[in-house]
Amino acid sequence: MRVAMIGAGYVGLVSGACFADFGHDVCCVDKDPAKIEALNRGEIPIFEPGLSDLVAKNVRENRLSFTTSLPEAVARAEAVFIAVGTPSRRGDGHADLTFVHQAARDIAAALNGYTVIVTKSTVPVGTGDEVERIIREARPEAEFAVVSNPEFLREGAAIADFKRPDRIVIGTEDDRAANVMTEVYRPLYLNQSPLLVTSRRTAELTKYAANAFLATKITFINEIADLCEQVGANVQDVARGIGLDNRIGSKFLHAGPGYGGSCFPKDTLALIKTAQDHEAPTRIIETVAAVNVQRKRAMGRKVIAACGGSVRGKTIAVLGLTFKPNTDDMRDAPSLDVITTLQDAGAIVRAYDPEGMTAAKALMPDVEYAGDAYHCATGADALVIVTEWDAFRALDLGRLHKTLAQPIVVDLRNIYRPEDMRRRGFTYVSIGRP
Ligand code: UDX
Repeated sequence: MRVAMIGAGYVGLVSGACFADFGHDVCCVDKDPAKIEALNRGEIPIFEPGLSDLVAKNVRENRLSFTTSLPEAVARAEAVFIAVGTPSRRGDGHADLTFVHQAARDIAAALNGYTVIVTKSTVPVGTGDEVERIIREARPEAEFAVVSNPEFLREGAAIADFKRPDRIVIGTEDDRAANVMTEVYRPLYLNQSPLLVTSRRTAELTKYAANAFLATKITFINEIADLCEQVGANVQDVARGIGLDNRIGSKFLHAGPGYGGSCFPKDTLALIKTAQDHEAPTRIIETVAAVNVQRKRAMGRKVIAACGGSVRGKTIAVLGLTFKPNTDDMRDAPSLDVITTLQDAGAIVRAYDPEGMTAAKALMPDVEYAGDAYHCATGADALVIVTEWDAFRALDLGRLHKTLAQPIVVDLRNIYRPEDMRRRGFTYVSIGRP
C-alpha cells in the first residue's frame, strides 16, 4: 500500500517507520524544511528507543521517504494519515484543531483517486465529520472516506506498542474504507491483534476514554498512597493486592508524583470540555485532573517537609526531569512543579537527567545542571528522585552518602527499599510506604 503520513512528529514518525517496516511504501510529510532535511540526513529529531535504526533500515530499503511536498505525497497515496499536533488551546483547554483543519484543506487540494484519510492525531468527537466537510466542500467530486484510527503509543515503548498492540481501533461506517484499513494493518491483524471496527465518533471517544481511565487509575493509587502514609500501610502491597484481581489489573497502579506527558494532562482536559459542552459532565475526570495538578505541587512541599520544614538557602539535588524514563520529553513533567515549589521556598536546585537536559535548560534556565548523578548530589542538602530512569536504580549508595552534605533522599518513584536505605544511614522518604 502507498501511505502518506502528514506530520513527522512523534506519532507520525513512529507510525510511518512501523508501516514501512510492514512492507508499505510510506512518505512522511512535514512543513518544517529543517526537520525534513535532518531526517533525510538520517538524524531523528526525538529520542525513542529503536526508532533511529528502524528509520535507517526502511530508508535504505526504499520503503520510507521524507518530503515537505504534501501534494506529491498525497496524490500517490491510497491512505493518508493525519498525525499533526493537537495542543491544548490557550484559555479554555479545548484541543486546538488548527493544524488538523489545515491538513484537511491541503489534502483536499491534492486528492487523486479514491483515498482514505485517517485521523491519527487525538481529536475531539466530531472532528472526523468536520474534516469530511472541509474536504467535500473543497472537492465535491472527489472519491474519499474519512476514518478515525487513534494511536495508543507510550513514549519510550512506542515501537513495541505499534507492532504488538492490545487492539487497533478503526472508526468508519464505510465498508470500502474499512477494507483499506484492514489491508494497512494486515500484518498485525494476521498476528491476532484484535481489530475493532466502530463508528467514527465511537473511535474518537475511545481514545479519550482510554487515557482518562488510565489517568484515573494512577490518581486513585496516588490518593491511596497518601492514605497509606497516614495509617502506616504500604501502597505497593495494596496495589499488588488489588491488581491481582483480574477485574482491576495490575498496570498503572504505581504511585508517584502525579502523571505528566503530552497526552494525559491534555486529553483529560479536552474530554472534560467536550463533556461539559454536551451537558454530560464527567465529574470523576474533572476531579482526577484537579487532584493531579495539586499533587505535583504537593510533591515539592513533601521535599521541604523532609528537609525539616525549610529549604531556604539549601541546595537540593534533583535526579530525573523528563515526565518518565526513556524519553527526552519535558511536557507537563512533575519535575517542573517540584523544582518551582523548591525555588519559591528559597532553595538552590541542581539537576541531572540522562536525556532531558536540553529541553529542561530552555524551560528552567535558573537551575544548575550537573553532568551526572554524583556531581548533582555533591554537597547537596537533600536528593530527590523525580523520574525512575534505570541509571538511578543502582546508584552506589555508599558514594552517595559520602557525597551528600545531608543524607536525605526523597524517592518520588519508590525505586529503593526503605529498609536498605535506612540501614545505610539515609533519612529516606518515599511514596505511600512506612
Ligand atoms: C500515554 C498512554 O499510555 C498512551 O496509550 C497514549 O497514547 C499516550 O499517553 P505516555 O504519555 O507516553 O502514554 O506515557 P505513560 O507511560 O502512559 O505514562 C503517563 C504518565 O503517567 C507518566 O507521567 C508516568 O510517570 C505516569 N504513571 C504511569 C504513573 O505515575 N503511574 C503508573 O502506574 C503509570
